[in-house]
Amino acid sequence: MNEDKLEPLEKRPIGVFDSGVGGLTVAKEIMRQIPNESIIYFGDTARVPYGSKSKETVTRFSRQIVRFLQAHDVKTIVVACNTASAYALEELENECDIPVIGVVKPGAKAAAEVTRNGRIGVIATEATIGSKIYNQYIKELTPDAMIYGKACPLFVPLVEEGLWQDPVTEEIARRYLMELIDCDIDTLILGCTHYPLIRSTLGRIMGNNVTLVNPAYETARELRQMLERKGLLNRETPGLGANQYQFYVSDAAEKFKQFANSIIKYGILSAKLVNIEDY
Ligand code: DGL
Repeated sequence: MNEDKLEPLEKRPIGVFDSGVGGLTVAKEIMRQIPNESIIYFGDTARVPYGSKSKETVTRFSRQIVRFLQAHDVKTIVVACNTASAYALEELENECDIPVIGVVKPGAKAAAEVTRNGRIGVIATEATIGSKIYNQYIKELTPDAMIYGKACPLFVPLVEEGLWQDPVTEEIARRYLMELIDCDIDTLILGCTHYPLIRSTLGRIMGNNVTLVNPAYETARELRQMLERKGLLNRETPGLGANQYQFYVSDAAEKFKQFANSIIKYGILSAKLVNIEDY
C-alpha cells in the first residue's frame, strides 16, 4: 500500500458493521457523539440474521467484512452487532492491526454502573444469550451481580417489519419479559442492536423502576476516548460535500436505504451493493 496517497490517520473513516440494519442505532450514536468522524457502514443484509448461526459462521462473515472495511482504509472498526461481538471480537482483535471495538463490553460496563440491587437482565439473540458473554463481563466488574438472560428471537423480524409501536410487538414483549419482571431486576440491557427501536414498548412493560441500558451510548463514548488516547480523533469538521457517511450492504440496497432513513435523519441517498463473498 502506498502510504503517501492515504489520508492522514485521524481523517480516515471509522468502519462500522452489523448483520443488517440494527447497527444503524450504533452508527447514529457515533454520529451524535463524535460528529467530525466519517463512517463507512456495512450491513450484511444478504446473510442476516446472525443470531441463529454458529460461532464459526459468524466469525467467517465478520472476517470478510473486516477485510472489506480495511480495503477502504478505515482507522478503526466498530462491531455494531452484539452477536458478532459475542462470537468474533476476540479473533478480530487478535488479527487486526487497527483497533476493534465491540458493543458488549461497553454495555456490560454501563449496566454494572447503573444497577442498585445487583440484579441485571439481558435480552438479546439466542447466540448472544447462549455465549454468556454479558455475564462474563458484568461479573468481572461486579462479581456479586445476578444476571438473567432471555433470548427474544421474534424482536428482530418485528423491528424489521416496522412494527415498533404495534400491539403485536407489545404482546410478544410482555411474554418475553414476564420472567425478568419476576426476577426483580432493576436494570435491563438491550443486548441486540435492533432493540433500542422498541425501547418505549420495553420501557412501558418493565416500568419506571427498571433502567434500560442501550450499549450504543457507552460504545460511542468509549470509541471517542480510544480515538483521543491514540491521537486518532478527527478535530476538523468535514467540508461541505464531503461524503461523510457511506453505506454498503450485501443485498436489498433500496430496502436498507428506506429503513436507514427512518432511523438516521441525514437523508441517506444511497446504499451500495457489495459482493462480500469476494473478500
Ligand atoms: N444485530 C444483531 C445483534 O445485535 C441482531 C440481528 C441478527 O440476529 O443478526 O445481535
